[in-house]
Amino acid sequence: MILPIYLYGNPVLRKKSVDIDKDYPNLDELIDNMFETMYKADGIGLAAPQIGKNINLITIDANVLAKDEPELEGFKRVFINPKITFNTEETIAIEEGCLSVPGINESVNRINNLTIEYLDSDFNKVTENLKGYPAIIIQHEYDHLNGIMFVDKISPIKKRFIKTKLNNITKGKVATSYKVKN
Ligand code: NI
Repeated sequence: MILPIYLYGNPVLRKKSVDIDKDYPNLDELIDNMFETMYKADGIGLAAPQIGKNINLITIDANVLAKDEPELEGFKRVFINPKITFNTEETIAIEEGCLSVPGINESVNRINNLTIEYLDSDFNKVTENLKGYPAIIIQHEYDHLNGIMFVDKISPIKKRFIKTKLNNITKGKVATSYKVKN
């Protein structure tokens, strides 16, 4: 089932999410719906707050970018209750976008080496070391779980340029090819 994606300005995107356990109702269906919603919107990552649920759950499938970025080959994951530890202060930046902030793309500094501990969709404990693109993508999604949006991290000057666009998104005055909720 395709779910509406909550837009910038909705308070659900600003709340801190909570951990879940195996008993969370209809979790497998929710995960399936998140992948379906993400694919329909041509996204590569989706965090649960973006579909209106403040729980620590992220879906990622970046295989579509693997042609240009080989390190993303096979980067399809479900992250439940993730915890990130940064292994360096070195940063990298690429232009990011977000299904909750349609029509805006800006570069954001991200840490280039991290360790993430999480539960997969079978609640197996996994520890992964990520660098480069996978590290950038997971940081963007992980921020959503803490109520942080990528546009919070751009320079004040750039932010001034997109202020009108952000106000319009908040009011729902934005065209998207996917179902949204403001
Ligand atoms: Ni996003």
